[in-house]
Amino acid sequence: MRVLVSAATKHGATAEIAGVIGEELRTGGHEVSVVEPSVVDDVTGYDAYVLGSAIYAGRWLGEARELVERNAPALRTKPVWLFSSGPVGEPPKPEEDPVDVEALVAASGAREHRVFSGKIDRTTLGLGEKAIVIALRAAEGDFRDWEEIRAWATGISRALGS
Ligand SMILES: Cc1cc2nc3c(=O)[nH]c(=O)nc-3n(C[C@H](O)[C@H](O)[C@H](O)COP(=O)(O)O)c2cc1C
Repeated sequence: MRVLVSAATKHGATAEIAGVIGEELRTGGHEVSVVEPSVVDDVTGYDAYVLGSAIYAGRWLGEARELVERNAPALRTKPVWLFSSGPVGEPPKPEEDPVDVEALVAASGAREHRVFSGKIDRTTLGLGEKAIVIALRAAEGDFRDWEEIRAWATGISRALGS
């Protein structure tokens, strides 16, 4: 199956998740394109989609949201999985889903939406971002669970068959 994997990122952590999902799908025998949402202009020509975004202020990044909204009619005709990455700490916080994701699941007809823990490296943040992280007392570190991410991608790979 030809699969598009596309995820929006500000600081790279979610792009790395998209890369690992792409690797797993390739291992499963699929033909995979991992492309940033802002450069996807045509979603036709794929048999399935895995779309995601980092979460900022409780929402998906604009380019990922727009990718889903712009292509909703085409997405609804094929299998779609959505993922978000953001919560940090042990246990991961915040616990709530991104506020816009229910609408994105409905628009795309996604089979599932999964939230993965994220990564905060204060040295990469701008001043405003640092202030927010301090105000929210968000934990710093890399909380991405690669085993969980790979297992999710393997499940998708199997669901798609060969
Ligand atoms: C300013 C700022 C705001 C954030 N807001 C949220 C949020 O509302 N919910 C959440 O789950 N994670 C939030 N995060 C955590 C990020 O989603 C997490 O660091 C993610 O891994 C970043 O991915 P990226 O490197 O792909 O941009 C925030 C991080 C920063 C720096």
